[in-house]
Amino acid sequence: MEPAANYQSDVLVIGSGAAGLTTALQLADHVSVIIVSKGPLLEGSTYYAQGGIAAVFDQNDSVESHIEDTLIAGAGLCERDAVKFTTGNARDALQWLIDAGVGFDQVESDSKDPEYHLNREGGHSHRRILHAADATGKVVQTTLQDKVLQHPNIKVLERFNAVDLVTGKRLNKADRCYGAYLWNRQRERVETVAARFVVLATGGASKVYQYTSNPDIASGDGIAMAWRAGCSVTNMEFNQFHPTCLYHPNAHSFLLTEALRGEGAVLKRPDGSRFMPDFHSLAELAPRDVVARAIDYEMKRLGADCMYLDISHQTSEFLQQHFPTIFKKCLDLGIDISKQPMPVVPAAHYTCGGVTTNLNAETDLNGLYAVGEVAYTGLHGANRMASNSLLECLVFAQSAARHILSQNYQEAPVSTIPAWDESQVSDSDEEVIIQHNWHELRLFMWDYVGIVRTTKRLERALHRIELLQQEVHDYYANFRVSNNLLELRNLLQVAELIVRSAMARKESRGLHYTMDFPEQLPEPRPTRLVPSAV
Ligand code: FAD
Ligand code: SIN
Repeated sequence: MEPAANYQSDVLVIGSGAAGLTTALQLADHVSVIIVSKGPLLEGSTYYAQGGIAAVFDQNDSVESHIEDTLIAGAGLCERDAVKFTTGNARDALQWLIDAGVGFDQVESDSKDPEYHLNREGGHSHRRILHAADATGKVVQTTLQDKVLQHPNIKVLERFNAVDLVTGKRLNKADRCYGAYLWNRQRERVETVAARFVVLATGGASKVYQYTSNPDIASGDGIAMAWRAGCSVTNMEFNQFHPTCLYHPNAHSFLLTEALRGEGAVLKRPDGSRFMPDFHSLAELAPRDVVARAIDYEMKRLGADCMYLDISHQTSEFLQQHFPTIFKKCLDLGIDISKQPMPVVPAAHYTCGGVTTNLNAETDLNGLYAVGEVAYTGLHGANRMASNSLLECLVFAQSAARHILSQNYQEAPVSTIPAWDESQVSDSDEEVIIQHNWHELRLFMWDYVGIVRTTKRLERALHRIELLQQEVHDYYANFRVSNNLLELRNLLQVAELIVRSAMARKESRGLHYTMDFPEQLPEPRPTRLVPSAV
């Protein structure tokens, strides 16, 4: 009998960050799993996470308080069910990580149970962040990855780009997800995977902006693929800008964790004066949108290239113990942070919106799940609270796996996937045009759809996006796919969704600030876009 596709498994997981690895590990004792990553397995936002993961471990803290803080940061747009579900499952999710071998920092204590050192970050009313110094993501990623690589039921396909999902429409069958087309980067050809269930865990889309803390893989591929497959997206206008990325010609998007401010670091103007108390009662520990906007405001007002983050009140020993990665990185660049302030600028950091999902991580399309930064679960509302993201990856990965295993998965169909048709395409010798369009898109998204927006800027951006989309459409139809072309096509799709969502919101709320509607409307409403309606 002909195989259904080049590869086949019960579950296909697209993405190998915290969300994808956790989903795969939760499933693999029961079903066969293929996990795909478009670059090296390691490469994703997870690996670079610094501050840590939020969960209630302090006896003076409570889940109610974690819920309350999340709701406040989310500026009226969090879905209470999702917040309760995530925070309520946080401790179990963290315990699973600890049992998997993730070593979080501990404090010395007489108790026989470990007592964890907890960071404090913006928006949190308690110390609540478990961490591994300032390299939490690296420890999580490598620990889970090692387990995945050793699991006999998981097949890893590294350096494969998922190009598109295979739906019933494409196959003239009942509408559900049957697998995906993958571009094999080594063999430079498109291959097929057939699966009973598909989980998108492709991360966010912050690379749509010129300046970002994210690695290159963050091009919104999962959001664009799900949209093309007919799924709705929610709250795409809420793009989080991290207030403090290191501003230095030799530091490519290096983050300076919010935990520095949790240990007393203050923000200063170039003349050394402090400014956050002028903007919010919580000063440097105000929610992220407030801090990023304050920095942006001061930079524009003073015509300054950057602001400064000063933690020089702490000793060199303390800083080397708690922030070894940042201490070394800055020292290598000639900045001794125990004596000098760090130059900082905001940069695109997190995609709060995404593919609409429910508490089982199910999307609108049967058989398709979305987990992690690619998904909209309702947890973050108009502004994600620090360190709730890795938590969401873990909680919803477990939830997706539970739901998949609860179904009669043997009855979920495996369909034959037709081969990719490349008969009409040729090699492009115009890679330079794709590169140019890439840069143009990211620059005007930064200028027109950034921290402060206006209707006119949004209209201008949409017009440019539509022109570029036409060009890329012609390229896609006529030339062989490449990583840059696939990512550009997806980024343009995501940019369109961001701008359309931003244009639909006639108010300023959380991360979406527009000078044309500076006030907040009395009724908070999410922005849901549905493919058939656009
Ligand atoms: P990622 O970890 O980004 O993984 C995405 C995966 O999808 C990658 O394997 C990639 O190769 C794959 N992929 C993407 N597209 C395709 C495709 N087309 N085909 C195949 N594979 C594909 N959050 C916190 O909670 N605490 C923190 O301290 C924290 N610090 C952060 C620091 C930095 C510098 C950054 C950038 C983010 C930080 N965040 C933090 C946010 C958090 O790290 C991310 O939201 C989270 O790691 C996302 O995990 P993920 O599994 O959804 O995606
Ligand atoms: C940070 O460490 O500041 C990032 C935390 C986060 O994005 O949740």
